[in-house]
Amino acid sequence: MSNYHIKNLEEYFQVYRKSVRDPETFWGEIAEENFMWQKQWDKVLEYDLSKPEISWFKGAKLNITENCLDRHLYARGNKTAIIFEPNDPSEKAEHITYKQLHERVCKFANVLLENGIKKGDRVCIYLPMIPELAVSLLACARIGAIHSVVFAGFSATALSTRIIDSDCKMVITSDGSFRGNKTINLKAIVDEALESCPNIETVLVAKRIHTEIPMKQNRDKWLQPLLDAASTDCAPEIMDAEAPLFILYTSGSTGKPKGMVHTTAGYMVYTSYTFKNVFQYRENDVYWCTADIGWITGHSYIVYGPLANGATTVLFEGVPSYPDFGRFWEVVEKHKITQFYTAPTAIRALAKERLDFSENYDLSSLKILGTVGEPINEEAWHWYDENIGKKNCPIVDTWWQTETGGIMISPIPYATPTIPTYATLPLPGIQPALMDENGEELIGNLVSGRLCIKFPWPGMARTIWGNHQRYKETYFSAFENKYFSGDGALRDSTGYYRITGRVDDVIIVSGHNLGTAPIEDAINEHPAVAESAIVGFPHDVKGNALYGFVILKETGESRLHDNLRKEINQIITEHIGPIAKLDKIQFTEGLPKTRSGKIMRRILRKIAEKDTNNLGDISTLLNPEVVQTIIDKAL
Ligand code: PRX
Repeated sequence: MSNYHIKNLEEYFQVYRKSVRDPETFWGEIAEENFMWQKQWDKVLEYDLSKPEISWFKGAKLNITENCLDRHLYARGNKTAIIFEPNDPSEKAEHITYKQLHERVCKFANVLLENGIKKGDRVCIYLPMIPELAVSLLACARIGAIHSVVFAGFSATALSTRIIDSDCKMVITSDGSFRGNKTINLKAIVDEALESCPNIETVLVAKRIHTEIPMKQNRDKWLQPLLDAASTDCAPEIMDAEAPLFILYTSGSTGKPKGMVHTTAGYMVYTSYTFKNVFQYRENDVYWCTADIGWITGHSYIVYGPLANGATTVLFEGVPSYPDFGRFWEVVEKHKITQFYTAPTAIRALAKERLDFSENYDLSSLKILGTVGEPINEEAWHWYDENIGKKNCPIVDTWWQTETGGIMISPIPYATPTIPTYATLPLPGIQPALMDENGEELIGNLVSGRLCIKFPWPGMARTIWGNHQRYKETYFSAFENKYFSGDGALRDSTGYYRITGRVDDVIIVSGHNLGTAPIEDAINEHPAVAESAIVGFPHDVKGNALYGFVILKETGESRLHDNLRKEINQIITEHIGPIAKLDKIQFTEGLPKTRSGKIMRRILRKIAEKDTNNLGDISTLLNPEVVQTIIDKAL
């Protein structure tokens, strides 16, 4: 029996038990048998969760791109590594073989070197879903530079905050992007962001939309001519196991976004292992994850996990609704997709449309369906199962986070029986714990509490860039010696986990994590606004939508014009991006507060959810009378 590939439930239990009994042997064997190392490790795991310090495969040397590219050249050189499916279906898809990808990565890596990027430097990548995006990640990894991808839907302010926080030296972007029937001028957003980023020396610009754009002398360079002139030889920089591979920002409930730092060896082993098992990848499969590489799902399960397994992975530039709601299924038929991985929000949006959008296409190549990013409701699960999987494809409801690096709790297809809305069982090596509010672990089944992980796993983020103290406080302080996810979960009578949602002030809108504090900070910048509070409320496509309660500086009805609502959403778009826009804005004279001045979001949440019969005890509020006035004017 191989530890690496689990094929049935009995094997799962055996492997799981071994992974808990002896984690070092378990991960050591997987690492040794399935990857290319320049030097063996001295120790599989060293950790102290009170600090927290975690080190996997200490002493080992490697380059992740040798594992994702070079080692496949002999057996899979002519196999397709990446299928690029453009936004416009009439544009031809591009098949990039492992050999071609290797060449493109080496050329790009040489361009980075020639432009002054060295091992350890941070490079910000702000690109649409085009091949250069995957290539640029790998090119950074080739030379030991740390990539920091910023999702190309973020605003100039959000981009500059991230560039400054990790002190990037270079930005890689494009003239623009296609998204459905829209074109977006990305370079203009970069130009605006860079007004406040003096440390950026070079901007490499890929051509995608082919429009005239201003290029700043001595800073901006067209990428293609540099690539054309670059050599295809680029020796991989040999890295320490724990060298940072990338930074990826995620929203916190308070403060600025957190730059989660993932390191090389553990991340590689973990994403590769979980990809193989959760998607049961076989040699001739064609795997498609619809996420954007700007999120962790794209890093781990479009780029690193699939490529480390020598898989064929699809990189899709478009959106599910363009040119119509059949696009996903057209792509499935066209490329004979075997594993399809998407978000509940996309499933819900498609389930609202006519069935013939999916019925018109041959979906018989599909073997496994996946979902990620937020709890999937039962209705959406059944729609997916019946109309896309034809009741013949296991659905993997995969729970994980930017911080965890890879999938943590998920069925293993053909092994774990699935139940709608349940992420089911922890993957080997993952030891979940549910905690009560007093910090006690809930033992046994039929319990619900805060979801923690009580033992390190190789894919976990090691720190927050530049702020280890915040890492410790956010993840390792609520419960001693445990990683706290910020999610609530229940364990049913058979030991299956069901994720119930965030227990902090992070709201997941269309699968995107949004912290309430940064949105409130943006709104409060509006000259007319005195104070604001954001909560989530259920939305049938987005999962949650945002409801803002806003106090204006001046009172009186004359200020409450519709333009104000538009202006508030405009300011949010400028500070964060359109994904954080509010669906409802209620102007109010006051907000319910505790005696220490904290806003009681619990009450606002109930009002937004239209569940005001049971508000609990409000007598301890500083201003209980305000509650009824807010209810009376609720939208
Ligand atoms: O609340 C959980 C939810 O998404 C959060 C992590 O978001 P992010 O870091 O952006 O990563 C998303 C992609 C991995 C979690 O804290 N979440 C993710 N997957 C699920 C989920 N909630 C329920 N079920 C899931 N399968």
